[in-house]
Amino acid sequence: MRARYGIPLKVTAGLAAVGAAGVAYAAGFEARSFRLRRVTVPVLPRGMRPIRLLQVSDIHMVRGQRKKRAWLQSLAGLRPDLVVNTGDNLSDTEGVPELLDALGPLMDFPGVYVFGSNDYYGPRLRNPARYLLEKAQGRHGLNGNKPVVGAVHNPWEDIRDAFDAAGWLNLTNTRARLKLRHAELAFTGLDDPHIKRDRYEQVAGGPEPDADFSMGVVHAPYLRSLEAFTADGYPLILAGHTHGGQLCVPFYGALVTNCDLDTDRVKGLSTHEAQGNRAYLHVSAGCGTNRFTPVRFACPPEATLLTLTPADPMITEPRENRISSLRAGPLK
Ligand SMILES: [Fe+2]
Repeated sequence: MRARYGIPLKVTAGLAAVGAAGVAYAAGFEARSFRLRRVTVPVLPRGMRPIRLLQVSDIHMVRGQRKKRAWLQSLAGLRPDLVVNTGDNLSDTEGVPELLDALGPLMDFPGVYVFGSNDYYGPRLRNPARYLLEKAQGRHGLNGNKPVVGAVHNPWEDIRDAFDAAGWLNLTNTRARLKLRHAELAFTGLDDPHIKRDRYEQVAGGPEPDADFSMGVVHAPYLRSLEAFTADGYPLILAGHTHGGQLCVPFYGALVTNCDLDTDRVKGLSTHEAQGNRAYLHVSAGCGTNRFTPVRFACPPEATLLTLTPADPMITEPRENRISSLRAGPLK
């Protein structure tokens, strides 16, 4: 017996079974296979004590995601010096209570945050293939698309109020400082470039000379933000948004970044250069997905514990060579 187009029915059934198994794996297993990635970034001034920074991103909380909630709660056991939340906390307008329950133990630690588009707007049902089409056309989010019409507005103010009440610092187009036990840090944050809410001109000026260390924070790592932070002299930029590509090809990697960043830097530690400066860039693959595309493949959900350390005083190479050799080394 043959199906349409002359393909044997057994082959059609076999392909359908493989496809169904792939979707079942991507949605049922990998999208819930939470893990912690550890990265060492030799970026602090010499003499500073290391700083353990936990980055959480793209949680996209939906009611009933008990495993994700428990995993996020367990991260408090790492006892980080600070938490950086790079946005996209929601994928459910009713998800705020469970989000705050999940982040509650982490909110006992010092923290900073920026928002992403999914904090402001509810998810929309989209064809996943549309990302590939938009990439081919050079369009990303509102950076080339028509403005969102009829979007559901999320109760992002409730998240902001809870984070603020916990003492986390809101970095939305804002500069702020955080005093830890052994260091005073300065942060410069942007609102989400994916929906054109970033206003770098409001926060320009570069690192604060009387802080021990300064860094830039943004949800979506659009090149214009990376250029601005790097040109201004920030040695470290943290971002999320890309989901690491979300549906990746084994032994190849990501096909899309959902912004104008190249796929080589879709997640993890890399560098960015602008106007003679070089900054470390860390992009979190995040730990969630849009509720309408709850699948991940070859790209597990994650949080990252970044240990910021001083540059090795034993290394006497010029700065340029030193960073290149460090970049080439394996990430821990
Ligand atoms: Fe996201």
